[in-house]
Amino acid sequence: MTKLDQIRAAEARLLLSTYDRSPVLFVGGHGVHIFDENGTKYLDLLSGIGVNALGYNHPAITKTIAEQSQKLIHTSNLFYHEGQAELALRLTERSGLDRAFFANTGTEAWEGALKLARAHAGVLRSEGKTIGTKFLALEQSFHGRTFGAMSTTYKDKYREPFAPVVPGVEFVKLNDIADLRTKFSNEVCAILVEAIQGEGGIRPLTQEFFAEARALTSSTGALLIVDEIQAGMGRTGKWFAYQHYGIQPDITTLAKPIAGGIPLGAVLCTEEVARSIHPGMHGTTFGGGPLACSVAIAVIDAIEKQGLLANATAVGDYFQQQLRSLAKRHEAIVDVRGKGLMVAAELDSAELGKLTVAEMLKRHILINCTSDTVLRFLPPFILERAHVDTAIKALDEIFSEYAAGQGATASAGGHQRG
Ligand SMILES: Cc1ncc(COP(=O)(O)O)c(C=O)c1O
Repeated sequence: MTKLDQIRAAEARLLLSTYDRSPVLFVGGHGVHIFDENGTKYLDLLSGIGVNALGYNHPAITKTIAEQSQKLIHTSNLFYHEGQAELALRLTERSGLDRAFFANTGTEAWEGALKLARAHAGVLRSEGKTIGTKFLALEQSFHGRTFGAMSTTYKDKYREPFAPVVPGVEFVKLNDIADLRTKFSNEVCAILVEAIQGEGGIRPLTQEFFAEARALTSSTGALLIVDEIQAGMGRTGKWFAYQHYGIQPDITTLAKPIAGGIPLGAVLCTEEVARSIHPGMHGTTFGGGPLACSVAIAVIDAIEKQGLLANATAVGDYFQQQLRSLAKRHEAIVDVRGKGLMVAAELDSAELGKLTVAEMLKRHILINCTSDTVLRFLPPFILERAHVDTAIKALDEIFSEYAAGQGATASAGGHQRG
């Protein structure tokens, strides 16, 4: 029995069966590559679902963890430590927002954003404004797995088993301005969007829709909340995906790549929103601890020092170009989209989506497929053109083999029928 087999058997007995894992055991990594227990090297185009921004074993991260772990790992939020204000300064300067709250994960940051929106609406009501408690979220949205986040997440499969979900959420059709206008009213305390939907299939908001969401919320005092958990921190070539649109939200949320693999989430908001929160209303034991903050600071500094925003733009553009050329040769690719290193190739069938992920794994390349038919690439920000070439060559082979197989099946079928 291999070590992987032993672990699989033990997990099958001991863990809740929440994940459908691929049969591979990872033990190390370097740069854009991750290694299994046999020393086989995999090109990682998924980076732990958009987390390992600097790849593996980056000296800025390993050095900071080593140093900070010998100084201080945890204090709780009852006391001060050196990291939170310094990290908040970096994030507020880059986001155009004023204040930060630190959590541990994406879903937890999102819960904080929802609570802020409800508290802010309460303050407005106490000042005599007419504003309700309803959230408008978008179809195909994904905001997390805890109750508030799940309730604002679109797909039934995430919500239904846990009903009743948090009430007061209505879903608007993505990029449908008429639907947004119809559903918006004084009852709404916030419109919730991802500038580029991640889990929903790398679907960007249109400029017009995003601008309308901003205009509607501004007209009543409701908030525009942008979830940047997947798209933010430089992945799209700007620190925040909303910056591609020139639209400023009232609240944004961050997590995934913010601390390069150490769990950390953040809520950023305006001074106006921040006035609705007072000591005791919200908090966390672990959020924004010294270790996570020091690593996040190191990650931001490394992104800047290594010019990784520009790299995400350049290599991301190249990736999309190469996928578009591939689409000319393979009808199975029906769309290519994304921004920077948040890239998707939509396929014409879920069967091919699943098969492509498995075939890429056989060729030692990690990708995933979201929304059944969308191949999703969320590589580390240090990705180079040569890595893109490797992936494109593998995809070319897989689609060619698949098309040949389909052709053979069709002609075999034709022969039988004949
Ligand atoms: C846009 C977005 N929001 C929220 C989340 C939830 O983050 P986490 O899994 O860290 O709770 C995710 C995770 O995929 C996400 O992509």
